[in-house]
Amino acid sequence: MAYKVEKLKINYKTLEEFKRFKEYGLQELSMFEDLEANIIENDSASPFYGIYFGSLLVARMSLYRVEAKFDRYFDPPQDYLELWKLEVLPDYQGKGYGHALVDFAKSYGLPIKTNPRVKSQEFWAKVGFTSVHYDMERDLGENPIIWYPSGAAEQ
Ligand SMILES: CC(C)(COP(=O)(O)OP(=O)(O)OC[C@H]1O[C@@H](n2cnc3c(N)ncnc32)[C@H](O)[C@@H]1OP(=O)(O)O)[C@@H](O)C(=O)NCCC(=O)NCCS
Repeated sequence: MAYKVEKLKINYKTLEEFKRFKEYGLQELSMFEDLEANIIENDSASPFYGIYFGSLLVARMSLYRVEAKFDRYFDPPQDYLELWKLEVLPDYQGKGYGHALVDFAKSYGLPIKTNPRVKSQEFWAKVGFTSVHYDMERDLGENPIIWYPSGAAEQ
């Protein structure tokens, strides 16, 4: 089944919907404070993408494009996407929503890096992500995994 992935706007409705997700934290709180203080406008662009089932936001992820000059993962250094907060609401898991969001990220044709949560390894392997060679200075407490489009390789 094809799901429609939408870029989410920062507004009170979206921030209310985010409360259903487990990984609700500082990023969401700071967006809320910026909205309250008029530092950002209602309906500003957010780094979040999501899928609705009817009017309910059931899956979401954050995507951020990192510029090549900050790249420490690829050879040659290049722009890549950092993906985080991929999450599907419990009743909607296992129905292809997570896969659809990852496919959307892949459609940019850039390498994608993420830090998987414990126990989600099988999902990430299914959608084609592999571990990088661990570099202590670079990765510290992280456990990055990466998806490569054709033509990109690890440093
Ligand atoms: C991990 C998560 C993002 C995956 O999204 P999803 O929409 O449930 O996954 P999909 O339906 O798109 O699954 C894609 C593939 O990965 C597999 N998969 C998904 N979750 C899996 C899991 N926990 N273990 C093993 N395989 C899994 C699916 O079977 C499917 O395989 P298929 O293509 O052969 O049918 C989502 O389940 C989630 O947010 N979970 C929150 C909690 C968490 O991290 N759980 C980890 C497991 S405890």
